[in-house]
Amino acid sequence: MKVLGIETSCDETGIAIYDDQQGLLAEALYSQIELHADYGGVVPELASRDHVRRMIPLIQQVMSEAGCESHDIKGIAYTSGPGLMGALMVGAAVGRSLAWTWKCPSIGVHHMEGHLLAPMLEDNVPSFPFLALLVSGGHTLLVDVTAIGEYKVIGESLDDAVGEAFDKTAKMLGLAYPGGPIISQLAKQGRKDRYKFPRPMVNRPGLDMSFSGLKTSVLTTWQKSDKSEQTKADIAEAFEEAVVDTLTIKCKRALKETQHKRLIIAGGVSANQRLRERLTELADTTSLTVFYPKPQFCTDNGAMIAYAGLQRLKAGEHDGDGFSTRPRWPLDELKPPS
Ligand code: KG4
Ligand code: ZN
Repeated sequence: MKVLGIETSCDETGIAIYDDQQGLLAEALYSQIELHADYGGVVPELASRDHVRRMIPLIQQVMSEAGCESHDIKGIAYTSGPGLMGALMVGAAVGRSLAWTWKCPSIGVHHMEGHLLAPMLEDNVPSFPFLALLVSGGHTLLVDVTAIGEYKVIGESLDDAVGEAFDKTAKMLGLAYPGGPIISQLAKQGRKDRYKFPRPMVNRPGLDMSFSGLKTSVLTTWQKSDKSEQTKADIAEAFEEAVVDTLTIKCKRALKETQHKRLIIAGGVSANQRLRERLTELADTTSLTVFYPKPQFCTDNGAMIAYAGLQRLKAGEHDGDGFSTRPRWPLDELKPPS
């Protein structure tokens, strides 16, 4: 069964075709980073308009690369939330319209379920149950996962998401958007131990997190500093270390509580090299196995939406006549495929 996946929840137009027998057949991504660069963040209206421009050419490209005609596509999966309302509407409207003309079922996919299942796109697939650390620009979630659609959020950020903290910190330091990869690159030139930022909420019991205080510490340090390039790199190093340390401590705690032997990390921030290394080190010293997608499937992409939609379409779940998009949509409202 071949499914066309459409991702438009934020600033990336991601299109892919996934087949349940042959795996990923083709995928394409258009990133709007340059479009939003001057604004230091995503401008929702510009994002929607650009999805409109990119979507059809990308679908044509992916269909041709996969060698597919419209009658080969047996289902369409599009992101229906959470995300930017206008951007979601573009993907949903195109997805539903294609499904109608191609006479196949469609399904609205939860963006974070897409991220959560992205490690399944790799050769070494994690089996259920597992603990998931989902870290993106909009979410920071620790999820106890027993099966597809059986998600219990056991920890989350009470304020900024980790990716958002990277982005805001980068902006404070005069760096471009998105801040995560830029801070991470700069941190490599930073000297260890010149600064030490707080590890928020690690001394309190529980699995919730908070990253807005960390951002304030960075701002105060930066304002008082000589503002040299070396200082900027030193701050980036200490910031990344504080984030990775906090996430590792919370993961360890969640693993102890849930007794899971498998940990998956997904979402844009899971592309972070230091986070991957630290969690892999943890696995080396325990009976834990860590799974993560390749970097291109950590950040937003159409393949994860096609994969997640396929699981539900295969079970017979699909849209009714209309469609709805949900800018806010708690992950644990999802149910197993029906
Ligand atoms: O999953 P994603 O592409 O979009 C959302 O669903 O939000 O995540 C984007 C976030 C951005 O905040 C970006 O700065 C962050 O992921 N990010 C990273 C890295 N690559 C992307 N953060 C840290 N290190 C990275 N290498
Ligand atoms: Zn995402």
